[in-house]
Amino acid sequence: MKIDGQHFRTIWLKTDDHKVVQILDQRFLPHRFIIEDISSCEEMATAIKDMHLRGAPLIGAAAAYGVYLACLEAEAQNDPEEYLQKCYAKLMQTRPTAVNLGWAIGQQKQILKDINDPVLKTKAALESAQQICDDSVERCRLIGVHGLQLIEEISKKKEGETINILTHCNAGWLACVDYGTATSPIYQAHDKGIKVHVWVDETRPRNQGARITAWELKKHGVPHTVIVDNTGGHLMQHGLVDMVIVGTDRTTRTGDVANKIGTYLKALAAKDNDVPFYVALPSSTIDWNLRDGVKEIPIEQRSADEVQFIQGLSGNEITKVWLTPQGSPAANYAFDVTPARLVTGLITERGVCEPNEEALVNLYPDES
Ligand code: MRU
Repeated sequence: MKIDGQHFRTIWLKTDDHKVVQILDQRFLPHRFIIEDISSCEEMATAIKDMHLRGAPLIGAAAAYGVYLACLEAEAQNDPEEYLQKCYAKLMQTRPTAVNLGWAIGQQKQILKDINDPVLKTKAALESAQQICDDSVERCRLIGVHGLQLIEEISKKKEGETINILTHCNAGWLACVDYGTATSPIYQAHDKGIKVHVWVDETRPRNQGARITAWELKKHGVPHTVIVDNTGGHLMQHGLVDMVIVGTDRTTRTGDVANKIGTYLKALAAKDNDVPFYVALPSSTIDWNLRDGVKEIPIEQRSADEVQFIQGLSGNEITKVWLTPQGSPAANYAFDVTPARLVTGLITERGVCEPNEEALVNLYPDES
């Protein structure tokens, strides 16, 4: 996507130093636009864990590049294979909910397992990381193509009036390598001249909606309004939401969907108000091993600090301030699971399907 006329992806190999991977450091958006150099697997693991980058597809792409950096380091080790195994484990431990992490590391392991020469391993890991990124971009573009049809149908019914779409967290291009998942249909509709307006949930505690989704929609010129997380139900009751589109960090083969904490409550409100609730995802986000999302999807719990403090711009400084009474404990469940029965449809790179095992297996007979 473009930032002030210049095309960016969220992760790339540094042009003049192929031992360095560059990312957009999202911790400081929307106030600072910072590109970070990542030069080791350890630094990539920190960038994922501490959310310099985030969003399921981007976490996968970052892990793939992390394996590349690990291979570079392994070339100088006495036991390169043992070193690599430690790096895989380090990357795997960074964020438990987004299945794209394990998926991407698994892809890398599969490619590297039969290559013995450490230098050739590095070359293969780089090519594969770049391929994973390119595939991810194409998948997100196609999600946009299929999701656009849903928006067009609503636009026809509303005779060209503005379509109000609610989204939660950031499932935009900054959560992916490009385009986004939930935002991809929105960008395509906007670019086609369909009138869209996005309700952006702020998404406490890290405010990915208020800080990141709003920023990218603004950069692209898409009309939007930031709302606090508890507003969605009220808007739906008053006919102010035509559809909900969210992303997901892990979807079971039965169509249960883990996404940023608070998504489930939006789905309940949508059901109660007959508002279509869509989830956009590339197939790398499907966990074919799981059937019961509520019982089986691991839910990341993050530091209480993220709840107790809030970050913003004060004058020219990005500052963190206390929000809660000092000494009040806080809990920080980062994701929740929306059962398939509350989901209207899954927007994938192969088309839109019902959220159930039969439909998913029909769409992905080769992967399921
Ligand atoms: O904790 P985050 O910011 O990584 O969570 C991101 C989300 O929940 C997104 O909605 C999800 O990854 C879908 S991404 C396209």
